[in-house]
Amino acid sequence: MTFNPPKFQNKYDNLKPFLRWAGGKRWLIKQLDDILPKTFNQYHEPFIGGGSIFFHINPQKAFISDFNAELIETYSEVKNNPQEIIKYIKSFKNTKEDYLKIRTQNFQSPAKRAARFIYLNQTSFNGIYRVNSKGKYNVPYGYRENYKFDFENILNVSNVLKNINILHRDFTECIDNVEENDLVFLDPPYTVTHNNNGFVQYNQKIFSLEDQYRLAKLITQIKEKKAYYILTNANHPKIREIFNHNDHFIEVERASLVGGRGAKRGKYFEVVITNVKGEL
Ligand SMILES: C[S@@+](CC[C@H](N)C(=O)[O-])C[C@H]1O[C@@H](n2cnc3c(N)ncnc32)[C@H](O)[C@@H]1O
Repeated sequence: MTFNPPKFQNKYDNLKPFLRWAGGKRWLIKQLDDILPKTFNQYHEPFIGGGSIFFHINPQKAFISDFNAELIETYSEVKNNPQEIIKYIKSFKNTKEDYLKIRTQNFQSPAKRAARFIYLNQTSFNGIYRVNSKGKYNVPYGYRENYKFDFENILNVSNVLKNINILHRDFTECIDNVEENDLVFLDPPYTVTHNNNGFVQYNQKIFSLEDQYRLAKLITQIKEKKAYYILTNANHPKIREIFNHNDHFIEVERASLVGGRGAKRGKYFEVVITNVKGEL
């Protein structure tokens, strides 16, 4: 099986993420097309989040996973029960009152839980996933009263997911499925703050410096299997030190962060690190 960017074997031209996700990589798509290998076999994305790159590539055979159990249950339900999800979403009203009520509810049905997840994600303040110390989702209402759920996209996504393996697991476990000539796209949460030169572990619970070292080990394993990897990360000396695999470091520019001419160097806040050879 091969993949030939930018001409995708994409049956659904308008396929897009069905969730809003912090750290989403839609802005990277254009730059990524120049980096992708000409051909590869299976695709792996072990920090799937909202899946913007996965939906863009739309691979035929893939393993997608994440540590967030509710997120992965939602992907599985979209794959298996899209009609039920749509029915439940239609039964939820997009008002502050209903939002606050649904936010506190626990549903027995997995499809209803997935509908709740998508509903809260799209009507909340900014689509971030945040839970309190008891694991309860606590993002405020977003006042997006005019938001229209894209049910057609949910059905298209469901069709695309039919052949995809969806797993709840730590990123390191993805190595079990990686084979020669596969592509692994890795988009971890960033540990570094951009407005500070230090390596600040503000999200230590989510992704620590220790996790970055585990990630570096995973990359060594991916390379041992003769597979490709593409890793995004913060453009920081510590990251360069940890990911010293003798591969390409490509500074990438996020359009929304572009400053004045004088700020040229400072605007490359993120890097793509990859062993894909080609037009770099
Ligand atoms: C930056 S987001 C990925 C965004 C995604 N590329 C997109 O475009 O929406 C990082 C993801 O890593 C997940 N994550 C954090 N720690 C993890 C771990 N140890 N193993 C697997 N996934 C993890 C988070 O739940 C989150 O969904």
